[in-house]
Amino acid sequence: MPKRLPLLVFLALGSIAAGPAQPPTYYGEVAEILQANCAGCHTEGGIAPFPLDDARWARNMAAAIADSVKQGRMPPWPPGEGTPPLKDERKLSASAKAALVAWAEAGAPLGDPRPVAAKAAVPAPQPDLVATLNPPYTPDDALQDDYRCFLMPATFDRDTYMTGYKIIPGDKRSVHHVILFLIGPDMVEAAEAKDRAEPGPGWKCFGGPGLSSDPRNIGGILGFWVPGGGATLLPEGTGRLLRAGSRVVMQVHYNTASGANPDATQMALYLAPKGVQLKRLVGMTLAAPVEIRCPPGLTGEACTREYARARTELGFIADWIHLLCNTSIEGYAQRNVGDGSRQATSCDWTAQSAMEVYGVTAHMHLRGVEFKVEVNPGTAGARTLFYIPQWNFQWQGEYWYQTPLRLRQGDRVRVTCVHDNKSAIPGPGGEILPPRYMTWGEGTTDEMCLGSLFGVRE
Ligand code: HEC
Repeated sequence: MPKRLPLLVFLALGSIAAGPAQPPTYYGEVAEILQANCAGCHTEGGIAPFPLDDARWARNMAAAIADSVKQGRMPPWPPGEGTPPLKDERKLSASAKAALVAWAEAGAPLGDPRPVAAKAAVPAPQPDLVATLNPPYTPDDALQDDYRCFLMPATFDRDTYMTGYKIIPGDKRSVHHVILFLIGPDMVEAAEAKDRAEPGPGWKCFGGPGLSSDPRNIGGILGFWVPGGGATLLPEGTGRLLRAGSRVVMQVHYNTASGANPDATQMALYLAPKGVQLKRLVGMTLAAPVEIRCPPGLTGEACTREYARARTELGFIADWIHLLCNTSIEGYAQRNVGDGSRQATSCDWTAQSAMEVYGVTAHMHLRGVEFKVEVNPGTAGARTLFYIPQWNFQWQGEYWYQTPLRLRQGDRVRVTCVHDNKSAIPGPGGEILPPRYMTWGEGTTDEMCLGSLFGVRE
């Protein structure tokens, strides 16, 4: 018997040994990879600049596709090394990446045409409350990017648990991202005043709704939507408590590059039935001071803290965070900041009680570069909870851990942000934003360093 083995092996390998491996073809396997990983955004009328669920487009873009996946730019997924496994990761498998690259290198052959199955969408459950932006808002096309806050027509007359949400963009071409902010009953009046103060629905807002004077309230982010996103259901058995009298402010970032059309984005909420007790998902706010100096060699009034402080709405938070973090403005002024244009800031927060951590968010503005959350840094039990090596303002979001993480009472949670103040950058309206001193604030020329852990206290 053993003598026959080589022959069997030869027969088994025959088809492979016969010649070089066939390159993948579009209809063979590439179309399905693009459909499953790219077409959520790259589709006719989608947010990405060209469709990838179309054979001709895919073929024409083959070299760019290969480059974007090799470099890890696509699909967009900011969290990086050291972050514990997250749910719904937009990640290409190594074999899918290899197939796209091999296909492009072989000249993007189409293969034998056959119908390509669209990715089956998981049907979202029926929401309990739907609020629509009404009247619709037409973004200002004089601006390349229009950031607008709207007080949504939804009220809660009793304490209610939210178990999930879904955002349904109205004008899919211009709605770039959406953030829902939960505002307490004490802030509703301020929101109504902001709304009245500007013509048309809503008010101009960039980093946040510009209502809260307390950084601990800024953790009131209720949800995010970025292109390709579907419904978010909070972890089983948990909910966010919407106190009676609370409201939701919806911030929409419109990009008007392909025109400005009326938009009636909708917010749908999933709510627990009355009387159902859920574990309350609370945010642990992680903020760090923002004292970003001008790069070396640049001086002038705009490079003074006074200048920044005077122009910042809610600027007193900038001073206040130093108290919370036990740091000082003078201390930051003396910090060694490397070559002077990249500056790191951090703050340690203590877990007041044990907490099961389900999710995390990060927020910086246009000059953000890196964002990190660590537990007990510098000790034997140090852990990284979250790391974004290359911040991109366009892709902020919330992230949910595959397995909840545990914080013990007294754990030190450090948030670290790096900002780059080297050169002038384009602002959201296409304007040029030269470096200047920046403190904490919600404007385009202010910065933030803000994270939040979402969890259940034990
Ligand atoms: C979540 C939405 C989203 C997904 C998913 C996505 N893209 Fe994109 N893609 C965009 C957007 C928006 C742009 C234009 C802005 C930019 O370059 O970031 C873009 C730009 C591109 C570009 C041109 C710019 C560059 O970086 O090369 C290529 C090529 C590309 N995507 C390929 C892909 C491929 C291949 C996939 C799937 C493996 C994919 N994209 C998945 C949103 C997405």
